[in-house]
Amino acid sequence: MTYTAENDKQYIESLKKKIDELKKEREATIIVHNYQRDEIQDIADISGDSLALSRAAIDADAKVVVFCGVQFMAESASILNPDKMVLLPVKEAGCPMADMVSKEKLCAMRDQNPDAAVVCYVNSSAEIKAESDIACTSSNAIEVVKSLKNKKVIFVPDKNLGRYVQANVPDKEIILWQGFCPTHIRVQEEEIVRAKNLHPDAKFLAHPECNPGVLKLADYICSTGGMFKFVKSSSANEFIIGTEMGMLYKLKKENPGKRFFMPTEHLICPSMKLTTLGWVAHSLEMLVYEIKVPADIANRARVTLKRMLEVTGEKTGAALTGY
Ligand code: 13P
Ligand code: SF4
Repeated sequence: MTYTAENDKQYIESLKKKIDELKKEREATIIVHNYQRDEIQDIADISGDSLALSRAAIDADAKVVVFCGVQFMAESASILNPDKMVLLPVKEAGCPMADMVSKEKLCAMRDQNPDAAVVCYVNSSAEIKAESDIACTSSNAIEVVKSLKNKKVIFVPDKNLGRYVQANVPDKEIILWQGFCPTHIRVQEEEIVRAKNLHPDAKFLAHPECNPGVLKLADYICSTGGMFKFVKSSSANEFIIGTEMGMLYKLKKENPGKRFFMPTEHLICPSMKLTTLGWVAHSLEMLVYEIKVPADIANRARVTLKRMLEVTGEKTGAALTGY
């Protein structure tokens, strides 16, 4: 068959129809992170940031959860929902930042700082969550650290989010892990200055994974979910978006008439873009790739995640003891 834009459109629509049928057959729900491809956003039952998606996985009235995101997100969903089947359509979709911390090195750091609480950004493996006292996301990291009794905190793996928390919680001593997001670290201060000069009325929204110099130039620092809320309620009409460019699709769709600019070209998380409609259909058809965490790790990681949800107002029944 000769390729034409028309039959490409037909192919996409046929895949969406197939996914819809399989979803009903499997009693499945599709959960989608804000950085996913446009066509994946279109098939979402729920889309949002890491915190919203953790909660959505718990609330979902479904036997099967198809998680269109990266491994640590699907792992968290599986840990919080031991009775649901959690599928990651592309098993190689990892988060490079999550791979920057090892259990051995974290335990050594903890041994050297026995009075410190270990806070792990959700962008970490289940094994790291199991060794941590409490988890956090970019939308609640400050609240989580403020909630701790310990004065000292080991924060893994993102040094930029850790530095941002330190600036906001000066009475704590935060020991930073040297991890980073290879996508957000690319955003440069000069690019923000240039974008602001080109669009002087635009508000600059930055994800806390960006470098401190970039964050200093921001009008608002928040999670991806926070950006949607800010744009919706803002009287401004122009925004410079300091995070992955997958955000643009829904921002434009939900805010017709408002304009969005990227400071850096091709600000893409390659792992987030691995998931395609074909892989989602394959995942539902074959029930792959199921994310299962060994029980001993999952049980400890669940406490870490539930403590976070407890701090941010989600009553999960986890005992807040032990640190
Ligand atoms: P959010 O929780 O803000 O969606 O961030 C997840 C992430 O991976 C950012 O790079
Ligand atoms: Fe990980 Fe960065 Fe991709 Fe987020 S954008 S999933 S932190 S690599």
